[in-house]
Amino acid sequence: MADIDPALRTPTDLNRNDTRTVADALNTALADCFALYLKTKNFHWHVSGPHFRDYHLLFDDQAAQILGITDAIGERVRKISQVTLRSVGDISRRQSIADNDREYVSPDEMLAELREDNLKLIEVFRDARERAEAVKDTATSSIADDWIDQAEERAWFLFEASRRG
Ligand SMILES: [Fe+2]
Repeated sequence: MADIDPALRTPTDLNRNDTRTVADALNTALADCFALYLKTKNFHWHVSGPHFRDYHLLFDDQAAQILGITDAIGERVRKISQVTLRSVGDISRRQSIADNDREYVSPDEMLAELREDNLKLIEVFRDARERAEAVKDTATSSIADDWIDQAEERAWFLFEASRRG
């Protein structure tokens, strides 16, 4: 993999060869956050049925929370002197969470799919966290704990909302 343009390097005491692997994981996490943000908004817009108001509001809260961490992820990548996403094309090339372009998705399917996607996102964050620990990038590993905590909360809410009785 070619190194980044020297003009884009930023000051850090971490070894740039070491942090490349962290940046790779963070860029996947960022692509997944955008993919999951849009899917959660998609479900916010298209949910239907007797629980409309509850799910519509839940999905909106969760979408806002996901979007709220994207800037911090991109900025972590720059702080370790690496480069991050530039476009929707970059997102689609890097995302590990699948899109859902179906016209109709039942509310139960929405809850289950978002729950699984948030669990997948946790795995991606854990991977970034482990890579960061391995190269002493403690700021990434500690902020990733917050991202994991928030994703666990979303998975919990989605799970509870899907209970029947
Ligand atoms: Fe809305």
